[in-house]
Amino acid sequence: MKILEIALIFALDLVVFAQFTASWNYNPGLFFPYVVHHPLPAQVTGQVESPSHQEDTVNRVPCLREFKYTSQRLDETALDIQTVKKELEMLSATSQNLATTMVTIWILSTTNLEESLKRTAESLRQLAETNSFVANLKNELGESVKDVAVMKTKIAELTTELKASTSATSIGRMPTSCQDLQQTGHVKSGINFILGNKSIETVYCDFTKLPNDAGFQKLIGSSDVKSVPTYFSVQKNNSFSAVGIPIHFEISKVNTGEAMEIASGIFTTPRSGTHYFSFIGLAQFQSSPDFVYVEMGLFLNGDVVGTGYASNSRNTDFKFSQIALQMTLNLRNGDRVWLQITDMSDGVSLRDAHNQHYTHFTGFLLQEDFA
Ligand SMILES: *[C@@H]1O[C@H](CO)[C@@H](O)[C@H](O)[C@H]1NC(C)=O
Ligand SMILES: *[C@@H]1O[C@H](CO)[C@@H](O)[C@H](O)[C@H]1NC(C)=O
Repeated sequence: MKILEIALIFALDLVVFAQFTASWNYNPGLFFPYVVHHPLPAQVTGQVESPSHQEDTVNRVPCLREFKYTSQRLDETALDIQTVKKELEMLSATSQNLATTMVTIWILSTTNLEESLKRTAESLRQLAETNSFVANLKNELGESVKDVAVMKTKIAELTTELKASTSATSIGRMPTSCQDLQQTGHVKSGINFILGNKSIETVYCDFTKLPNDAGFQKLIGSSDVKSVPTYFSVQKNNSFSAVGIPIHFEISKVNTGEAMEIASGIFTTPRSGTHYFSFIGLAQFQSSPDFVYVEMGLFLNGDVVGTGYASNSRNTDFKFSQIALQMTLNLRNGDRVWLQITDMSDGVSLRDAHNQHYTHFTGFLLQEDFA
């Protein structure tokens, strides 16, 4: 600041002395006016004229006049310097204010810079965190994409499995066990039918157990399944006395399955299985002093498989006897069964008539064979 002041003073000095005539030999270091040998310009002379007598005297002496003029100018210059000094002081104050302001600004900006640097560092740290987070996300995304691929494969497999499990399946034969049922897709434990040795069987399958575990398959019983229901009950409407031929019937009470042909009296087995037959009739004997009898046979394919018999002796009058015959037979498909009188005395007959109903032949399928 002092250098600036000195420079300014110097500059002003130059300005001040520049006001003098070109003949003024300026020497700021030795401020001593000397006499100029040529006259001053007219206007300068006019300016410094004074009304006083003394001044007139001075004015008459060119050297003194010159000196007075110079002295006045010096006074003015001193005043100017004072003014400039004040201005410089003001300027100095202003400069100090300016410096203070600049320092303040600098301090402020420095503070702000530190703050900014702190913030920048924080931002950089956050950016680094974000980068690492994004990198993690990318990794996770990569993993997820892999997972999705694995899932897609799994879904495809499951779809195939689902299609296989919901589509029709077969082991190529009827199931004969719970294990067979399991192979064809049964998973819910419960009561099921299987093909047993000869019949359809009802079993409980516990699919939560292994096939060799006790209780995996529990037999409940054989099922009363008949592919052709077979029941007949027939009667005669008149007496019959022919020997050696099948007894035919006139009245059919029940003939489910049409296995009994009443016109021939022959039962033709529609399905293999166990059948039950029952016959009851009334033998009528005439009055005779001799022993009389009647013998009936149940025939299977021409062979007697069961016999009924009735007899009488010392009869003096009419005589009646019941003949009964029941059998349970295992028959095969197509087997023929009938009744006939195999032998009897003369005058014996199977007694029946309209609205009497003494003769009954009944048969039915007890259990069909399945294999
Ligand atoms: C079926 O036959 C087998 C062997 O012949 C026998 O072990 C099994 O007990 C039979 N099952 C039934 C329910 O009769
Ligand atoms: C049974 O016999 C009587 C008398 O002969 C006859 O009227 C009736 O129609 C016969 N019934 C059958 C079903 O043949």
